Amino acid sequence: PREMAAAGPPTQPPAPHPSVAPLLFLLGKWRGEGEGTFPTINPFRYGEEILFSHNPSKPVISYTQKTWKAASGEPMHAESGYWRPTPDGSVEVVIAQSTGLVEVQKGSYDAENKTVTLQSELVGNASKVKQITRAFKMVDGELSYVVQMATITNSLQPHLKALLKRI
Ligand code: HEM
Repeated sequence: PREMAAAGPPTQPPAPHPSVAPLLFLLGKWRGEGEGTFPTINPFRYGEEILFSHNPSKPVISYTQKTWKAASGEPMHAESGYWRPTPDGSVEVVIAQSTGLVEVQKGSYDAENKTVTLQSELVGNASKVKQITRAFKMVDGELSYVVQMATITNSLQPHLKALLKRI
């Protein structure tokens, strides 16, 4: 019966895990647009959605991303992984890409300026990619990032930049 189902006081959402607290600004769903470039390719524009989520019992943020061609909506690259911030300001990220490439990223965050910078410690199962860096920054409530890569033929330089709004 209905009157038995709703017993008890309203519950507070559980507090986030303390390790994750400095990166709470990332949590949620983001959507936006980006552009891709590299000396060896034609520049391109893409749409993107990112979800950062968190279970309060775990010191981990889950990350999933998907992209599509800006003009047609056709699916492009996707990736997902886990972000593991530590209270000392360091952060470790693992990412699996839809292309088969895997990354272990290490870096640091600045909770006050809402930035995260990552450099690859390991790039696995890649035919061309030697190194990847990722830099995230909150600008006026929007999430921006730059991804740089080094390949067997080209030194470290931008491949992607994007700006996303919270939805
Ligand atoms: C090309 C790596 C993310 C779209 C490339 C190339 C590499 C690469 C190695 C070939 C460059 C060359 O031959 O010199 C990566 C890595 C990524 C990433 C490591 C993530 C860290 C993305 C994303 C998109 C994308 C998110 C789409 C939104 C493309 C396109 C090309 C390209 C369209 C050129 C056409 C092609 O070769 O297929 N990428 N990529 N990439 N990438 Fe990415």
